[in-house]
This record gives sequence, structure tokens and C-alpha cells, in this order.
Amino acid sequence: MAKLAHAQWSSRMTFVLAAAGSAVGLGNIWRFSYMVGENGGAAFVLVYLACVALVGLPILVAEWLMGRRGQKNPVDTMAELARKNGKPRAWMGIGITGVLAAFLILSFYSVIGGWSLNYTLGTVIGTFSGGDSDSIGALFSNMLANPMTLLGWHTAFMVLVVAIVARGVTKGLESAVRSMMPALVILMLILVGYGMTTGHFGEAMAFMFRPEWSALDGGVVLAAMGQAFFTLSLGMGIMMAYGSYLGQDVNLISTARTVIILDTAIALLAGMAIFPIVFANGLSPGEGPGLIFVTLPLAFGNMAGGTILGLMFFLLLTFAALTSAISLLEPTVEMLEERTSLPRVSAALISGAAVWLLGVAALLSFNVWSDVLVFGLNIFDLLDTFTAKFLLPLTGLGSIVFAAWCLDRKSVEQELGLSAAGVTAWNVIARVVAPIGVVVVFITGVIGLM
Ligand code: PFF
Ligand code: NA
Repeated sequence: MAKLAHAQWSSRMTFVLAAAGSAVGLGNIWRFSYMVGENGGAAFVLVYLACVALVGLPILVAEWLMGRRGQKNPVDTMAELARKNGKPRAWMGIGITGVLAAFLILSFYSVIGGWSLNYTLGTVIGTFSGGDSDSIGALFSNMLANPMTLLGWHTAFMVLVVAIVARGVTKGLESAVRSMMPALVILMLILVGYGMTTGHFGEAMAFMFRPEWSALDGGVVLAAMGQAFFTLSLGMGIMMAYGSYLGQDVNLISTARTVIILDTAIALLAGMAIFPIVFANGLSPGEGPGLIFVTLPLAFGNMAGGTILGLMFFLLLTFAALTSAISLLEPTVEMLEERTSLPRVSAALISGAAVWLLGVAALLSFNVWSDVLVFGLNIFDLLDTFTAKFLLPLTGLGSIVFAAWCLDRKSVEQELGLSAAGVTAWNVIARVVAPIGVVVVFITGVIGLM
């Protein structure tokens, strides 16, 4: 990023679109629904919502705020802010773990992006028309069992990501994001409408929103917090990098609220669309990562206009995945560009190839390497668990602690533009509630895992 003149976003809207482009992706639809299903439903959802509000919002604001003050890439921003505030340089570590997390996440994210590409094609050629849960479930299992299919689509997805990042056209994507978001919301609403016709909508709503607190344990709580970080693109320095381009006039808190409401709404709509189909077809909510790829094609294969709606849906999902994936590759590319003076194209190719290779290991865990277990997890689950449940919360904790305790108060108050009461509320949440929340969830979760 040092090579770019540090220009600013042309407007608040452009910034919101870029942040939303990173936030809204597979995390909202694919990961949210399978996590809800795997973790027993409503208790998970409610903890997730609490994490988004009490931990996600302050950390999002903290990352933007530090980016705007530091005006550099996450690693140098942290180094600079630490120096200015007389804190150890080790705070740079937050930037480094963030870039590492982004790198690891992209490897398996791309595999799922490939599934989405594959299903885009599948809807067009009518693979799902008239299918029942057995035939559509078999299509999914066959895809998983075939490493070459997975490899082809994973490669196609990564090629797209690298091509976009190499050409540095990421800025041009904002106008596309602008039309994508409303389209995605409308399609989700149509799918929720379809869910209402299945006769199992009430059951789905109860599953998602009527908690059985007995289902709650440390593991569920940690999974919910991990999902909050993942879906908001937090704990990776990405939002910090975006904040460095942010004009002084933009209000951080209200902008964060906008992005969070959009992201959360899309996730909740996805759940409300998917679980009626799960119950109507006697599927298991705990199906795992295949959940949306087994439920939604059933809906598209059996509803009026399903081919065109399915095509639009998987195209939009792929596109949302691409805009998130681009934001995941950027930090690695920028680090390489700066530290090695490689040209952008080579930096993008090298980081893309490294991510791709790790992604191959992730996709093999669905078939030939399914027995390769580390801590009882296959490679795919290991990458997902290690990032969402460990790296992101710990990096996010670092950012909020630094922003709330180490930055000088005056500048924080200026940045936030809050009333006196607002500043007090911010201090309580950012200094106490959010950090303690992360620590408590993390510790109970880790104990639960043991
Ligand atoms: N937030 C994205 C999603 O929900 O799909 C995934 C993601 C993008 C995570 C960028 C992290 C990130 F830095
Ligand atoms: Na998201």
C-alpha cells in the first residue's frame, strides 16, 4: 500500500460499498447457515447476535479508527501507532497474525467459491430440475468425492481472484457491489417466501429463534463468536487497511452500524430461507458445509422460475464470494509488494499460487485425505477452526485493547465525534465489555474443546 498515493475514498458511500463487499460473502449464506445447523440453532444465533453487537461493532470501529490514524498497511499502522503512543513495537504482531489469518482463510474460502461456480453452471444446465433430496444430495456427494472436479473449480475461482487483484481493479468493483447488495437481499426475500410455502416455516423460525439454552456450551459460544468475526471480516487487518483510506468526515460508528445491519440481515434471511427447506425435506440441520448446496438446489429445482432464480442466486453468491476473496488476498499481496519490491502482478501470482496450493490440501480432505486428521480435524476443518476460533478472536482482542487502552484519549474522542455520554459508553464497551467478552468466550470455548 505504500506504493499507492494514499488517496481517500471519494465518498462515504464508496467506503460503505467496499466494506460491505468484503463483509458480505460466503460467510453470510454458506458458513452462517451450516454453523447454525451444526450448533443447534437459536442459542447459537442469539449468542452470535450478541457478539456482533457487543464485540463486532466496537472492534470494527477500532480497526477503522486505527487505520485512519495510522494511514498505512496494518503492520506498519500498528508499528506507527505503537511508536507514537510509546508502546512496544510488538503490537505489530497484530498486523502479522491478521495477514496470516487472511491467507489461511482464503485457501478454503476459494474451495467453497469453486462450489458456488460449479452450482452456477449446474442450475443453468438444469442439473437440479425436479430433483429430490436423494438425487440432489448425491450430486453434492459426488462432487466432494471427486478431487479433480473440486480442483478444477477451486482453480477457476483462484484464477479470477488473482486476475482481479493483479490488475489492481478492485476499486472498480464498488459500482458492481452497489447493484449486487439489493439484488441479493431481494433474492433472499424470494427464497424466504418460498420457505413459507413449504409448511415448515414456523418450525424453522422456532429452530432459529427459540433457544434451548441447554444446548449452549463453551464450544457453541466460541463458534458463535468466531462466526461474528468471520462474517464481519474482523481480526484480519482488512478493515484496518480500508480505514486508512477513510476521510475524516466519515462517522465511524454510524457507518459500522450500516455495514453490520446489512451483513446480519443477509445472514438471518439466509437461515430463514434454508431451514424451512431442511425440515420440509427431512434433511439434517447439522449436514455441515454442504447445507446450502443440498437445500437450495432442491428449492430451485422445484419452484416456478427456479432455473433463472437459481442462476441469479449462485451468480450473486459467487460474486459476493469474489469481492470478499479479493479483500482476503490484498493484504498478502501488499505485504509482498512492499517487503520485496516485486511488481504487483508477480506478487499477486505468487501469493495466489501459495493460497491455491493450501486450498488443494483443503479440498483433498473431502476425499483422498479424509483420514488425515490433526487434533481430530481434517485439513479443511483445521484451517477453519484455527482461523475463526483462534486467530481472529485473538487478533481482534489485540486491536480493541490497543484502541481502547493504548491510543491517547483525545485523538480517540476526536475520531469518534461522540457526546460526553457517548464517550463514556464507548469507554465501557471498548475497554471492558468487548475485551472481557472475547476473553471469557475464548477461555470457556477452549476448555470446551479439551
Ligand atoms: N466476511 C466474509 C464473508 O462473510 O464471507 C469473509 C471474509 C472476507 C473474511 C474478508 C475475512 C476477510 F478479511
Ligand atoms: Na459476512
